[in-house]
Amino acid sequence: MQHESWKEKVIYQIFPRSFQDSDGDGNGDLQGIISRLDYIKSLGVDAIWLSPVYESPRVDQGYDIRNQREIDDLMGDMQDWEALLQEAHARGLELWMDLVLNHTSDEHRWFKQSRSSKDNPYRDYYIWRKGSEDGSPPNNWTSYLGGSAWTYDEETGEYYLHLYNKKQPDLNWDNPRVREEIEELVRYWQRKGVDGFRLDAINVVSKESGLPDTDEQKLEGSGYKHFKNGPNIHKYLRELNEKAFSQKEGTITVGEASMVSMKDVALYTHPDRRELNMIFMMESLSIGSDPDDAFKKREWKLTELKEIVTRWQNELLNVGWYGLFGSNHDHPRQVSSFGDDGKYRVESAKMLATLVHTLWGTPFIYQGEEIGMTNYPFESVDQLDDQMARHYYRTRTEMGEDPSEVEKRLLAGTRDHARTPMQWDDSPQAGFTTGKPWLPVNPNSREINVQAQQNDPHSILSYYRELIAMRREHADVIVHGEYVAILEEHEQVFAYIRRNEERQGLVLLNFSDQEAAFELPDDVHVCLDSAYRLLGNYPPEGEGVPRTLRPYEAVVFGGLKPAPEKGGGMKSTGD
Ligand code: GLC
Repeated sequence: MQHESWKEKVIYQIFPRSFQDSDGDGNGDLQGIISRLDYIKSLGVDAIWLSPVYESPRVDQGYDIRNQREIDDLMGDMQDWEALLQEAHARGLELWMDLVLNHTSDEHRWFKQSRSSKDNPYRDYYIWRKGSEDGSPPNNWTSYLGGSAWTYDEETGEYYLHLYNKKQPDLNWDNPRVREEIEELVRYWQRKGVDGFRLDAINVVSKESGLPDTDEQKLEGSGYKHFKNGPNIHKYLRELNEKAFSQKEGTITVGEASMVSMKDVALYTHPDRRELNMIFMMESLSIGSDPDDAFKKREWKLTELKEIVTRWQNELLNVGWYGLFGSNHDHPRQVSSFGDDGKYRVESAKMLATLVHTLWGTPFIYQGEEIGMTNYPFESVDQLDDQMARHYYRTRTEMGEDPSEVEKRLLAGTRDHARTPMQWDDSPQAGFTTGKPWLPVNPNSREINVQAQQNDPHSILSYYRELIAMRREHADVIVHGEYVAILEEHEQVFAYIRRNEERQGLVLLNFSDQEAAFELPDDVHVCLDSAYRLLGNYPPEGEGVPRTLRPYEAVVFGGLKPAPEKGGGMKSTGD
């Protein structure tokens, strides 16, 4: 069994524009992050992953990069970045950068060259094709934002491919020069001292040759089967690993890859294959949305969530590794989506955190999650910055859908909920800025903020610190041990055992706002009488393992002994 120490890390994700402003322009920046490093360190995390801080025209909040080697003016400059790295390292924190390698901005110098003429040496850096005979786009794929995934460029009379915005043209990974540029880019940041990378949309970079039409009828993001985990993806990642990632010892990589099977995850992350260290587990987050329309909500059952988690935990043990998370910059706030952001906000935020931090894998915390930040009370689509939401509104209303219905959907599902400023204190702009914030500060910042929770032992923030410390102390079981699902059919209680050859723990989570009774099954094969409570989000009630859980209660026990063999007659204490 491998026990590499990188597997024990906990990562904190920063969305820099919304974290901390240092110069009063209403936008978070690198100096702002530096001023909060002690706070991040105090959580007990090991590394920071920075969402993009590179030069960008920001049609997609920095995921459209004009220059991957320079820092955006909004964020500061390279000296600020170097200071951040140095200050982070001085505190024992690693710094991970976001790599956006599927596409660049159309303002990138490569694309400017590429579009200038058909025989420009950069032409083949992107994916250009002639239109069909009738002049329509080369195939019928739709972009994630809706509409054709192709844009016609007058200059040379051809179309270029963009799976996202037309200002985010896709790079042509089949061109060896593009792959060399990418390797050189990775080495550039490694030389600068970066410790890890998050790879944006990495499983769509290799497209099927011939770029065939798709038979999917989807308004957004069709064509998936022709580029999802595409034909050369594993070859390209192995090459990138060999020539770049592995060139600096200790470099850790995590890939964003949606709609993957367990087999795919193992292919990306099995250590013998030398591709990536881990990929994110995205499947559970999409549980509440319609698979064909992310803004349409659907009812979900706890048993469905359990099935997903159990499958990943069981099928990937010792064959792959993955990143665990409940929120990031692309999803509404987790306590609003999966918990209760009203009456049981504190309890449910802690309960959800308990799930993420007691599974094997690598937990990622998204800024503000650790204080239970909630969705923002948006009232109109005009308040939104999120390009996906705005585009969706346009297309759906043009198709004749009722604008107020569409708006309702968007206001609930927009990514901007995660992007409103970090809530540091109870001042008017929550300590985020002295100016006018680029997105509004949530009015609940007067109650929900770091300052209010910092020294409160019962706060969500304190609970995160305890959870992270518990995970570290019991890493042999929590990070490296096996997962055994119990009560699989229960619709309120999520329960599982974590164990290795010597020790066992039990996790009980009530996912409902009602008391939940349960019977632990006889075949659990553990002796509960020796169990002791490690952590919980309510004060303990009575001795030992409870048989009912209070609304959104979470409780973790250690010290479970293996059950006696039949007739073995092991006596437990108190008998
Ligand atoms: C990833 C990012 C998202 C971005 C998209 C395009 O999914 O997380 O924010 O819009 O890639 O780069």
